Amino acid sequence: MRNQITHYVRAGYAGLFIVSHEENRVEKEIAAVAASTKFGLHAWSICQGIVSVEDEPRQIADTQEPFAMLSAFDKMPERSILIARDFHQILEDRNPITFRKVKESLQLARGANRVLVVVGCRLQLPPELEKEITVIEFALPGRDELREVMDGIAASAKVPIMEDIADTFIDAARGLTCSEAENAFALSIVETKEIVASIVAREKANVIRKNGLLEIVESKTTLDDIGGLETLKADLAEKRNLFTAAAREYGLAAPRGALVVGQPGTGKSLTAAATANIFKLPLIRLEAGKLFGSLVGQSEGNWRSAFATVKAVAPCILWIDEVEGLFCGGKSSGETDSGVTNRVIKAILQDMQFNSEGIYYIFTCNDIDGLPDPLIDRLDVWSVDLPNQTEREAILKIHIAKRGRKPKQFDTTKLAALLDGFSGRQIEQVWAKAMTLAFNDKVREPRDSDILTAATKFVPTSKTMAEAIERRRKRLENRAMPASAPEAKKETSRKIVK
Ligand SMILES: Nc1ncnc2c1ncn2[C@@H]1O[C@H](COP(=O)(O)OP(=O)(O)O)[C@@H](O)[C@H]1O
Ligand SMILES: [Mg+2]
Repeated sequence: MRNQITHYVRAGYAGLFIVSHEENRVEKEIAAVAASTKFGLHAWSICQGIVSVEDEPRQIADTQEPFAMLSAFDKMPERSILIARDFHQILEDRNPITFRKVKESLQLARGANRVLVVVGCRLQLPPELEKEITVIEFALPGRDELREVMDGIAASAKVPIMEDIADTFIDAARGLTCSEAENAFALSIVETKEIVASIVAREKANVIRKNGLLEIVESKTTLDDIGGLETLKADLAEKRNLFTAAAREYGLAAPRGALVVGQPGTGKSLTAAATANIFKLPLIRLEAGKLFGSLVGQSEGNWRSAFATVKAVAPCILWIDEVEGLFCGGKSSGETDSGVTNRVIKAILQDMQFNSEGIYYIFTCNDIDGLPDPLIDRLDVWSVDLPNQTEREAILKIHIAKRGRKPKQFDTTKLAALLDGFSGRQIEQVWAKAMTLAFNDKVREPRDSDILTAATKFVPTSKTMAEAIERRRKRLENRAMPASAPEAKKETSRKIVK
């Protein structure tokens, strides 16, 4: 990070925007850059105006106003850096005078080796200044920095650190800022008198949730919880060891990811959840629609801040759920929106291509229409359809067993035939309804007849969505691998039992 900033300063970039929640850490880095390049250093905030960054800060009179700050910046000697705290918020006011002044000041600064460094927590550059100011994503702390934080906390609490598992604590803290990691370590010591990885991981899940875009999914789902989808499951099982150090040393590249497309309620989300357990990696879910913000530049900024966290947690799985919210949403809602959509897609594709070491992507969505070709091209594309006879039987058995009943006590083959056209979710719902019927009938055990009755209360997805299903099947043909294994024998045709 320090090198990158130094290069920009040396190369005469006049406007930098460092995106980070960690003002102190960023300013320390800039101070180090200023010292090594022999640049003068000042900082500005709207409360204090411009102050010198020494032990005894000296104020430069009357520079609280942004315009006055920029005028004072114009008069600074050559080789000066001015840190402008929260200046991105001033730019959000979209005051044309400020925009003009920034442009003119940066033009002057370019010839005099002066650098204006905006430090702010979210990317929010107005289009007018995009070409003037270079954005630097300040990476979250790496292992070494987190180790320092941990050692500091452990020393102050006089708690020894067990060297052999220190790495586990650090792994659990990755993705946190220094102060968040410090809080998590301290909390763990207060709760248990030592640093416990699971507490650190729990706090991390809380912190990530707070940002509102990402969610750490604590998944207990395994392949055994998924009925059918045998080809997809076999593929995941085959890849299970590709994320290990042994595979890397052997010369194998880790797979990039999968795109799972198909009918609603057929186990796409379930598969994403199972992948975490198969690959033994943390699973981070991002709901695609949530990326969109109301302010200009916010959507892209949302992606960048989310991706910075994911990057720091890597190796991990990034699950982008309900992708159509991203790719199809903008289309219908006019010019501006699709512009935003395109920019977000571009940012995602760029990060996927150049910046994705240690990240396995899972995209799940209902339809492939509208997804950009480069995305489809980079991933294994799977289509998931309504379950066939064998699959319906497997799904029914899984859900019967989940509620503590024995599948053998039911004629699952016959029942599965009757559930033709039902999605996995519906089969689960039919079984839950059958349980309710039996419970309400003097708390007896459920029987085949309860499942039959329950099934009549639902209209199968194959009927409610008949047209959409046909269209989707056509679109997916030749573009995706079927997730289900082909059925060996002919499907039992549906028979109505009176
Ligand atoms: N293949 C399946 N095997 C077992 N349960 C399934 C299957 N498909 C769907 N279900 C049940 O339906 C619920 C919803 O499935 P989900 O994976 O969320 O659907 P979607 O494909 O819309 O993401 C699951 O939580 C699970 O209980
Ligand atoms: Mg889903």
